[in-house]
Amino acid sequence: MVLSSTEWRTMQHLLLLLICGTCVTYSDAVDLASPEVFDAQFYLNNYPNLHIHQTPEAAKAHWLSTGLAAGLQGCGSFHSKQYVHRYPDLTNAFHTDYTAVVSHYLTNGISEHRLGYIDGGYEGRWTISNGKDLFISASKRMGGAIDSLVWNNKQMINMYDHGRELQMACNSDTYIECYNPTEAGGRDDSRHATTHTQIQSVRADGTTLETEVHPAFWLRPGTHETGATASSNCHRGSPALTHQATYPYPFWKHVKIGVQGMSHAIEFMSNFTLAGDWPQDLRYIQMEAPTGYMPGEFTTGHRFNTKTLSLEDHGSNRDPPVLSTTDGQYAMGVYSPPGQDSDAFMYYGVNLRLGGSSFTGSTNKWNVVFRKSRFTSGVHHQVYKTYICVGTLNMVTSCLRTLVQNIPHV
Ligand SMILES: *[C@@H]1O[C@H](CO)[C@@H](O)[C@H](O)[C@H]1NC(C)=O
Repeated sequence: MVLSSTEWRTMQHLLLLLICGTCVTYSDAVDLASPEVFDAQFYLNNYPNLHIHQTPEAAKAHWLSTGLAAGLQGCGSFHSKQYVHRYPDLTNAFHTDYTAVVSHYLTNGISEHRLGYIDGGYEGRWTISNGKDLFISASKRMGGAIDSLVWNNKQMINMYDHGRELQMACNSDTYIECYNPTEAGGRDDSRHATTHTQIQSVRADGTTLETEVHPAFWLRPGTHETGATASSNCHRGSPALTHQATYPYPFWKHVKIGVQGMSHAIEFMSNFTLAGDWPQDLRYIQMEAPTGYMPGEFTTGHRFNTKTLSLEDHGSNRDPPVLSTTDGQYAMGVYSPPGQDSDAFMYYGVNLRLGGSSFTGSTNKWNVVFRKSRFTSGVHHQVYKTYICVGTLNMVTSCLRTLVQNIPHV
């Protein structure tokens, strides 16, 4: 008799029950690709060199056949190698049997409140969390920019290339991408494993992440704008305006999970150093503090009305944006208190349905933009505070309400 694999597993279970009686040894009914340990989009975007067909099915098949046993990282909130290194009892029990490690996390680790990452960073990835359902991580590959934010097992940041992530950037009004220091890296870093951003320091500790980097210019010297932009000095075919691949001044950020007693709220403090050879004729420098690129399914845009303290379908670019999945089960909202140093204009941008229709590349974007018009020579530090709420749409709405009421200005 030839048994299918399901029948064979059932048979094994029966045998175990017969032999074992009451002892519980293991359960092979556990789904090793469940969302606590695997996210297809994270996997495909984190390992672009595996050349897997860019579909959830192909990602899952690769994970189950190869990645899992090899100790690859299946999602932003859990990594078998870090998990087994974190706990000596697991190191002794499992060594490098990463399939057993993942299985242990699913059957025991989660209920024992164990965490699947190493504090302080591991192999080019730094993770912080609220200890239960929110995990934020930054990677060396992306210049210390946040390329993963997982809430309730859902990856909420798109990391397709070096222009996505949750990151800081700045440019001048008319030169846009032709002079555009970008935290995660340059355009031509594309989907590569490296970045032209130079990391100066990273500290990840419990609930706080702090980085200092010299960001890559989006367009490197000798390259040209290829996109269609409306700006006069940087249209299609315009050359990069810089002579260096990397902006030689720091972008600094301090990210903290937990605001006003809310463990699903995040404080994001950006510190831009503005100095050097910016174009002489600029009117203002605009700083994205920060911009969030979300996965393709976050297609529903809302605006939070700070006067009525309620969510609306439409609003102006002065109203905090919320992006959610259509069912409202997953959402992210942003609030940057008034009163910050922005002498031209501060707005919230939203761009939905960018990046085509591919599973890994499609994205939805929000940003918080501050503009400084009077820019003289010298070194300037521009510091901005932005709050990010994650959760269901209802959780995010009430989180924004709390923030707006308790932090009406900086
Ligand atoms: C901003 O960063 C600079 C270093 O790049 C530092 O000297 C300054 O103290 C920072 N400002 C704040 C408010 O953290």
